[in-house]
Amino acid sequence: MGVGRLAGGVRDRQVKTKRREFLGQALAPALAGWPPRRRPAAREFRLAATAAGYNGQVPGPGIRVREGDLLRVVLENRLSAPTSIHWHGVPVPNRMDGVRPVEPGGTFVYEFEARPAGTYFYHSHAGLQLDDGLFGPLIIEARDEGDYDREFVLMADDWLGRTTEAAYQELQRSGAGGMMGPGGDGGPAYQTYFLHPAGPLEVAVGDRVRLRLINASAATTYRFAVGGHRLRVTHTDGRPVVPVTVDALVVGVGERYDALLEATAAGVWPVALALADTGRVAARTELRYRGYLGDAVGLPEGLSRGRVLQYGDLVSAEGNEGLAARPDRVVDLTLSGNMGRYEWAISGALPDLQQGERVRMRFSNMSPMRHPMHLHGHFFRLLGTAGGSAAPPSKDTVIVPGPMGSVEWEFTADNPGEWLLHCHQVYHMESGMIRMLRYR
Ligand code: C2O
Ligand code: CU
Repeated sequence: MGVGRLAGGVRDRQVKTKRREFLGQALAPALAGWPPRRRPAAREFRLAATAAGYNGQVPGPGIRVREGDLLRVVLENRLSAPTSIHWHGVPVPNRMDGVRPVEPGGTFVYEFEARPAGTYFYHSHAGLQLDDGLFGPLIIEARDEGDYDREFVLMADDWLGRTTEAAYQELQRSGAGGMMGPGGDGGPAYQTYFLHPAGPLEVAVGDRVRLRLINASAATTYRFAVGGHRLRVTHTDGRPVVPVTVDALVVGVGERYDALLEATAAGVWPVALALADTGRVAARTELRYRGYLGDAVGLPEGLSRGRVLQYGDLVSAEGNEGLAARPDRVVDLTLSGNMGRYEWAISGALPDLQQGERVRMRFSNMSPMRHPMHLHGHFFRLLGTAGGSAAPPSKDTVIVPGPMGSVEWEFTADNPGEWLLHCHQVYHMESGMIRMLRYR
């Protein structure tokens, strides 16, 4: 796959633009008549799935809309295999979830109201296509995004340098592969890793900078840090949390974090991803203050010391809306694998749910690997954090650590349909770590 600059990944927020928008709004009633129509604005994008990524670029084009917009995406399948697009994290109506295949040569029109605001991504949900580079960023902006001057969308990506079929066969031949180890991801060996966009993050002294970090890789957990700057984490998986300041983040496959950085230390600083397993630096770029030349020296200190964000630090900024005193149903699931045959499973009874039920899921991990578990169509509340029972954070993907690690989450069955529940390490998913949840 080729590596392109992330279109729409960098944005300057300028006061001038805001003023123009304001004037436009003031004039709108006179131009459009009164009362104004209530139809959401439709935003249309076209994505062709090709062997070199969406529209021939990796990551695919940046999709950026405002909360409440009607998002329409026309997918054209130019691959020789079926494909689909899944809107990772967005609680879309079931038929728009991108699980049903679109045949080669076919098209499909996805259409849904873009909400809630947040940092998401989109990707193929057919086989291992995500690891062929079929992914891109999806940003839903709030009507009021709060106070910052500049924003960068950063996507972490692992790169095979060979076909996914070849990588999958290697894994099956060699059991869990060369990357196996306690707490590891049990994925294929990657040739290299990317942090998109490749160019430097350019800032000015005094800027408040928003970073939207998306782990779009297929099988790699990273630690992320910026030299000379701390990160004030404001969102996880698009949902707001009570801000917490750290030196580094661990970001699992499919997870996203938004963080603010105060640009008060003029210079050129390293920005880097390290492999969470080994600490080896995987990909880097730099934070460059306007007018500063030269290269960043060394590595961000946060990769080796300082405070690393823990799930336990997270407190939802949304309070306790939708939380029940006790769940209506408890579902116990076990994550396990047969390393010799590279077969993975989620075992335990998955009952048909009733709409409106509050469901608690408890995962126990009997395998040595970590598993980034993802639920389609819903946000869940991650239990056992600093949010306590009043404000546990909302997420859509969470790492279940290995070995013998456990995670509990709760969600409300408020979006009827058939929903996948799976490990987002796509080689685990492809070899069995996936289940379907249903309710009407
Ligand atoms: Cu991004 Cu079924 O997942
Ligand atoms: Cu897994």
